[in-house]
Amino acid sequence: MEQKVHWEAAKYDGSMGFVSEYGLSLLEWLRPQAGESMIDFGCGTGDLAARIAESGAEVLGVDISPEMVERARVKYPNIGFECGDGTTWRSPRLFDAAFSNAALHWMKDARAVATTIASSLRIGGRFVAEFGGYGNVRDIVRAMRETLEAQGRMDAFVMPWYFPKLGEYASVLEQEGFEVRKAMLFDRPTPLEDGEQGMMGWLRMFGHAMVPNASAAESEAWFEEACERLNPVAYKAGQWTAGYRRIRVEAVKLG
Ligand code: BEZ
Repeated sequence: MEQKVHWEAAKYDGSMGFVSEYGLSLLEWLRPQAGESMIDFGCGTGDLAARIAESGAEVLGVDISPEMVERARVKYPNIGFECGDGTTWRSPRLFDAAFSNAALHWMKDARAVATTIASSLRIGGRFVAEFGGYGNVRDIVRAMRETLEAQGRMDAFVMPWYFPKLGEYASVLEQEGFEVRKAMLFDRPTPLEDGEQGMMGWLRMFGHAMVPNASAAESEAWFEEACERLNPVAYKAGQWTAGYRRIRVEAVKLG
C-alpha cells in the first residue's frame, strides 16, 4: 500500500469492476466459514469483503486509500473497514485468515507486507492472495518506457509495481514463517471496458503511478502515445486487452 495514487473510488467501481469479479474465484481458495475472522488487505471499495461476510465470517477490510475506505463504509455499513499501510499496519488481535486480491503489487516492500500479514494471523492461520506476477502488464510498461525514451523524458518514469517471480514470492513468505501450500503464476488476458477508449481509461486510472510528477497535459499526451504503441499488440476488432499475469498463493502460518 505504498502507492501515492489518488484513487477515484467511484470511477474504480465503474469501469474497473472486473477486478473484484475475477477475485470471486479466489474465494474458492479461501473457503471462509461462519464464525471465522478474516482480514481483507487492500480491500478497495469492499466488494470482496462483503462476499466473504456472506459466509458468516467476520471481516475487517484494510486499505491505504481514505477514498476507498469511505466508499466501502457507505456501501457496506455492517462491515468494519479501516485505513492502514500494509507495510506498517499492526492488528491488536489475531485472525484466522488473511486475504488479498489485486493489491499486493502496489506494495513494493513485500517483506514488510509479509511481516504485517504474519503478525495479524494466529498460528495455523491461512493467507490467500492473488496479485500481479512477473511479466504483468509488460506491454503497457514497455509502451510507456518507449514513449518517455522517445520524448527524452525517462527522468519522469517510475516503475511503481512489484511483479515477482513465483519462487521469489514463495521465498518471501517462507522467510516470514509461512509454509506455502499452493502457488501458481498464470496469464489472464483481461478485456478492458469502454471500447476504443479502454486503454486510455486504464492508463488514466493507473498510469499516473508510472509518471507521478507529470503535469496533466504531459501525462495525457504520453498516455495517447503509449496507446498508439500498444495498438498493434493489444487492440483487436474494437477491443483492448491488458496482458495481466497473476500470482495466486495459499500459505499457512507456522508455529
Ligand atoms: C493489476 O491488477 O495487475 C494492475 C492494476 C493496476 C496497475 C497495475 C497492475
